[in-house]
Formats: sequence, C-alpha cells, structure tokens
Amino acid sequence: MARLASSMWALALALFTAVSGCLAATVVVVNGTASHAIPSTLFGQMFEDINVLNVYSVLQNRAFQQVTPNTTAALDAWHPVNGASINVIKDPKPVSAALPNSLQLKIPSGQNGRIGFSNEGFWGIKVDAAWTYTASFFFKFPNKSNFRGSFTIALQTSSGKVLASKSVGVSGSTTSWTRVQVQLRPSTSAKDTKNNFVVTVNSAGGQTIDFAMFSLFPPTFKNRPNGMRIDIAETLVEMGPSFFRFPGGNNLEVVATRWQWNATVGSLLDRPGRVGDWGYVNTDGLGLLEYLTFFEDAGMEPIMAVWAGYALGGTNLAENQLAPYIAQARDQINFVIGDPKKSAPAALRASLGHPKPFALRYIEVGNEDFFAAATYPYRWRDIVANLSAEFPQLQFIATTNTFDPLLSPNPTQYDVHVYQTPGWFAENAFMYDGFERNGTTYFEGEYAAISTNSSNIFGTPETGRLPWPTMQSSTGEAAFMTGLERNSDIVFAASYAPLLQTPDLISFDAGQVYKSTSFYAQKLFSVNRGDEYLPSTLPSRNGTLFWSVTRSKSSRSVIIKISNTVATAAEMSFRLPFRTVESKGTLQQLHGGQTASNTPAQPHLVVPVTSSIRTGKTFNFNAPGFSVNVITIKVA
Ligand SMILES: *[C@@H]1O[C@H](CO)[C@@H](O)[C@H](O)[C@H]1NC(C)=O
Ligand SMILES: *[C@@H]1O[C@H](CO)[C@@H](O)[C@H](O)[C@H]1NC(C)=O
Ligand SMILES: *[C@@H]1O[C@H](CO)[C@@H](O)[C@H](O)[C@H]1NC(C)=O
Ligand SMILES: *[C@@H]1O[C@H](CO)[C@@H](O)[C@H](O)[C@H]1NC(C)=O
Ligand SMILES: *[C@@H]1O[C@H](CO)[C@@H](O)[C@H](O)[C@H]1NC(C)=O
Ligand SMILES: *[C@@H]1O[C@H](CO)[C@@H](O)[C@H](O)[C@H]1NC(C)=O
Ligand SMILES: *[C@@H]1O[C@H](CO)[C@@H](O)[C@H](O)[C@H]1NC(C)=O
Ligand SMILES: *[C@@H]1O[C@H](CO)[C@@H](O)[C@H](O)[C@H]1NC(C)=O
Repeated sequence: MARLASSMWALALALFTAVSGCLAATVVVVNGTASHAIPSTLFGQMFEDINVLNVYSVLQNRAFQQVTPNTTAALDAWHPVNGASINVIKDPKPVSAALPNSLQLKIPSGQNGRIGFSNEGFWGIKVDAAWTYTASFFFKFPNKSNFRGSFTIALQTSSGKVLASKSVGVSGSTTSWTRVQVQLRPSTSAKDTKNNFVVTVNSAGGQTIDFAMFSLFPPTFKNRPNGMRIDIAETLVEMGPSFFRFPGGNNLEVVATRWQWNATVGSLLDRPGRVGDWGYVNTDGLGLLEYLTFFEDAGMEPIMAVWAGYALGGTNLAENQLAPYIAQARDQINFVIGDPKKSAPAALRASLGHPKPFALRYIEVGNEDFFAAATYPYRWRDIVANLSAEFPQLQFIATTNTFDPLLSPNPTQYDVHVYQTPGWFAENAFMYDGFERNGTTYFEGEYAAISTNSSNIFGTPETGRLPWPTMQSSTGEAAFMTGLERNSDIVFAASYAPLLQTPDLISFDAGQVYKSTSFYAQKLFSVNRGDEYLPSTLPSRNGTLFWSVTRSKSSRSVIIKISNTVATAAEMSFRLPFRTVESKGTLQQLHGGQTASNTPAQPHLVVPVTSSIRTGKTFNFNAPGFSVNVITIKVA
C-alpha cells in the first residue's frame, strides 16, 4: 500500500511536470568574464525643491518671504495667542534688504497675561524629549517704550500643554533689530505632531513689537547649520547613492524666479526666497552650500545643473541675451570648485568655511530642453564653449532628446527622462542595448512608473495614476534597471524622480519617513551594485522576467538581480562557471501583491526580507510573482 502510494505520487508528479509548462525553468548561463566595469556613478538621486515644501527647517513661513504684507495669506501658519493682534507689515526698517516683511504684534491696551503668537510648523512639529531645539528670532520695538518684561519661547501641544520653554528679558528701548536665541529641551515627548511653537510676552498692554526671521531646528544630520532633517537624510544615505542631481528640474524652467546660487548662500537674512513654477515659496534655506555639504557628508558627488536660457511657457533667450546668465553659471561653478585666490565666488565659499573645492565633474545644461529644442543648439554651443574654456576638466550633459537636434560640440552625455507605465519599463528594458558604442553616454536622470494607464501619464489616480509606488510599478522599474546595469558601459548614471514627498520615492510628514516599494527596489540595486558586469543568457525581449549579473571583486561574490513583473511565479535555473561556488547564498527579496504599496497607513507592508538559499554551480530559484530579488553568492 505504502509502495503503491509513493509510486503513484511519483507518477502524478511526473505528469504534472510534463503538462504544466510553469515548471519548465528559465535557464540562465552566466559568463565568468566581465564585459565592462560598473561605473562608480551608476545609482544616485535627483532632487529639486518643487516636490517638497521644506526638508530642513521646522517652522513654516518663518521669514515672511515673498508674501503680500497685510493679507491673511501672509500669516500662513501663524496664529494669535490670547487676544493678540498680528499682521505682516512691509517694514520701513526691515531686518535685511532680502527680507522686507516683519510680523507686527500689537497688544491691545488693558490686555494682561502672556500674549503673542504661534506657528504650526509644516504639517505639525515633532517634539522629542531626546532632542535639544535651537530657536531664534529677531525683534525690535518700532517706537521706544519704557516696557520691561520677558519673552517666553515654548513648544506646546495643541491643547496648550507646555513641553519646553525658556524666557529671556526684553526692554522697550530695543529699537534696532536684536537677535534672541534659546535652547529648548522638552521635558517629555509629544504623543503626536499637532504641536506649536509659541512666543509670548508679558505685557500690561499697549505695546507694539516687530519680529523677523524665526528659526527652530532640532539636531540636524551631522549637526550641520541649516542642515537636513536627520531621518530624511539617513533614509537618503541608506539607499547608497553615488551622486545627487540638483537643483532641478523645474527650478531651472522659470526666468525671474529661477534658482540663483547667489540668492541661496550666506546668512539666512540674505536669502529672499522665491516662488517657483509650482506656486509656493521656496525658502532657499537649503542653499548651495548646504547641498554641497550634505553631498560630502553622504559620500555623493554632485551632478549640478545651470540655467540655460529657457523657461516653461515659451521663453527662449536670444543668443545676444545669454552673456549675463553664462557669467552667473561661471560664478556658480566657481563657488563650487574655484580657487579663492582667483575668484570672488570661491573666496565667498572659503569665507563660509570651505576653502577646499568640492568634488564636481558633471554640469548639466538646462533641464528637459527638448521642450525648447529649436534654440538649444546656440544655447548649448555658447554655454559649453564659454564654460569649458574656463573649466576644461568638466563634462557637460545635454538635455534635449538624444541626437535631436544635432548639437555642436557633439555631447558626450545626454540626460534622458521617462515617466511611464510599469509595462513600458519592462518592455523597454532593452532600450539601451541598441545604442551605438561610440563615446556618447547616457544619464537616466529622471524615471519612474507613475501610472498603469498609458493614456493617463500625469493624470489622476481615478484613471490609473499611481497614488503611491506599487509592487507592479517597482518591479517594472527594476526590470528596466537590469537593462541599465547591462548597458552600464554607456549608461553612467540613473536616478529615480521625484525623490521626496507623496507619491514619490520617499514620503514624510512632521514625524515620520515612509519608504516606498520603489525605494527598496532602488536600494537593492544601489547597495548591491558590484564592480563589473558579467554577461549571461539574455532575458526574452518581450518577456516578463528580467535579470542581470554583476561581480564584486572585493567581496569575491556574484550578485544576481531578478525582477518578476507579473503575478505568476517563475522557475529559474542558474549555471555559474566558477571553480568553486558556495553552497549557500544570500537572498534579499522584495515581494508583494500587484497593488501593494507602503503608505502612512501601512508603512511596512512590503519590505525586503533576507534569507539564506541553496546555491552551487547550478541551482534553481523560484522568483515569486511581483518580486525583486538579489542573490549574492561567494565564488572563487
Ligand atoms: C564571455 O564574455 C566575454 C566578454 O564579454 C566574451 O568575449 C566571451 O565570448 C563570452 N563567452 C561565452 C562563452 O559566451
Ligand atoms: C491693511 O489692510 C486693512 C484692511 O484690509 C486696511 O484697512 C489697512 O489700511 C491696510 N494697511 C496697510 C498699511 O496697507
Ligand atoms: C511710531 O511713532 C511714529 C511717530 O511718532 C508713529 O507715526 C507710528 O505710528 C508709531 N508706530 C507704531 C507701530 O506705533
Ligand atoms: C545674484 O546675481 C545676479 C547676477 O548674476 C543678480 O542679478 C542678482 O541680483 C543676485 N541676487 C542676489 C540675491 O544677490
Ligand atoms: C560665449 O557666450 C557668448 C554669449 O552668448 C557668445 O557670444 C560667445 O561666442 C561665447 N564664447 C565662445 C568661446 O563660444
Ligand atoms: C554616436 O552615435 C550616434 C547615433 O548614431 C550619433 O548621433 C552620435 O553623434 C555618435 N556619437 C559620437 C561621439 O560620435
Ligand atoms: C485611462 O486614462 C484615460 C485618460 O485619463 C481615461 O479616459 C481612461 O478612462 C483610462 N482608462 C482606464 C481603464 O482607467
Ligand atoms: C516575442 O518576440 C519574438 C521575437 O522578437 C516574436 O517572435 C514573438 O512573437 C514575441 N512574442 C510575443 C508574445 O509577443
């Protein structure tokens, strides 16, 4: 009976294997001779201010930049406390030329007690008892008074419970701008982020006091002044990025309010801020020096763009209008790498504490200039000719479509952008295989699967736009990334975009950071890069299963990345040509349902899981539906 059962079972299994095609494994033969080195810049990040209101300071509308005085909108995020009257005024004696507006507090006569105002932060304020907050502001009495009293500077819950507070004396004879700075140490952490920053003054009433340039910072990443929020910076670093493309993007697609390096450096009092083409105020608190310092701290190299004379809406500068903008681009580059003895912008950098030049190899000329392709030939020519004459060591990246129009000098780098469906990414995993190997190289400077409906790219979630990355979108991107690795002899860099905020790679609120499924896919590729590419049996060009193989010489391991872009699991069989192959490897697997997303409601729904798997010179692997897998095996 037992024998019969077991042989019948074997027969059933054999029949099942024969009839069900799904057990026919895809065979992948790996070639042990590398075809090319993986470029050190291959995976990085792209960021511009447009998709995040503020990643570095806690207060919102902290300096009344670019608001219309005497309007309700100018008081955005500010609220009166205890019957105070507050208004944003165009100050006849402003704190600085760049910051013309002040917050005027009027305490009605006969009003007693602590009276003032509060700021609600950006989506709230996280109050953590482990942190010391540095709070500061400027104040003056517009007219001398004989008042003597104190300011109280506090962090409070929405119900008014004081979590931290400090008082400082104040005299009504202070008629010129005076800075107040205090350290706030919360006695307890707040249970949520619905907290306020509150400044009050004890007054018998009748006083008028002006305030400007508020600042509230918890500890920052590496304790840098005006630095990055620690949890966001650590999440960026966790991805293992090699470069950072900045400052845009759309920051380079406006004229008057474009990002201008010199309006973002030095004292915060000298930064006017600007309203970009996304319609809100950029504080420029994260200025050029803060960016560069962060890249150094994070071990990334900048890919820096300069404005190229074109703006959305059709502005194209004529050739004879370019000179001042080319001069400004030269200054911008000199701030980063110039010699302080020879260049004023470089001397400014030295005076701000960084005499040594920063690392810089790549300059991008504009952003998405395929929108203004007709004028790009002369803009590209003049900008590149002038800048390369001064900086022969730099490489310039063109931003039109590849080879359209033809440019002189012939670009050796193009920045290619694509926002598409997950299916498009899988279908285009072979996009770069057909490109000529002739010295022209490519930067996939912005890419993301953002819709499942090809008629609805940039549309609404109702018709297929993704509110959050999903396993379907992330596996599509990962399929494309296997193609980037295979073609990394000509693709030198790639960055997902947008980087921060809903529905992008990394989302956050006042208290937390949310890592999307695409974040984990990016991280799996970036931190498991290897340093040379090993050719292997090619995936099917119109298939749904994609892979690439690299080797890390330093860790003597082979790294296999696999993306399964559909719901059906795929059986694979690998053949490795090495003398010895360890019998156990490490599998890092990101796996979830087609529409599974990490959201604030379920931040950890899909996270990579690391396990040990059986390997050898030949071994089988089952790639689950909608999965990104990295198998690492020691070989010799
Ligand atoms: C392995 O790859 C190398 C370098 O790309 C190539 O020259 C060689 O022909 C390949 N060998 C096999 C067996 O495919
Ligand atoms: C501010 O606005 C109020 C009402 O909108 C108006 O009465 C007042 O004159 C304005 N003040 C200034 C200085 O413009
Ligand atoms: C300050 O004094 C001047 C002149 O006396 C007066 O015009 C002005 O309204 C006063 N300002 C405030 C805010 O009280
Ligand atoms: C920045 O420099 C440009 C000239 O390159 C100048 O027009 C502009 O006013 C400067 N902005 C600031 C805020 O200094
Ligand atoms: C530099 O730019 C100016 C202004 O567009 C242009 O006239 C000039 O030809 C450029 N210089 C070189 C060396 O191309
Ligand atoms: C490489 O090939 C492309 C397409 O044929 C061509 O347009 C481009 O100019 C070539 N690049 C170089 C550096 O010759
Ligand atoms: C795809 O998007 C288009 C354009 O927004 C819309 O008309 C169409 O209904 C969408 N299709 C589906 C299946 O949602
Ligand atoms: C896949 O591509 C091959 C050749 O490129 C073609 O013969 C085949 O019909 C395609 N299969 C599908 C399902 O599109």
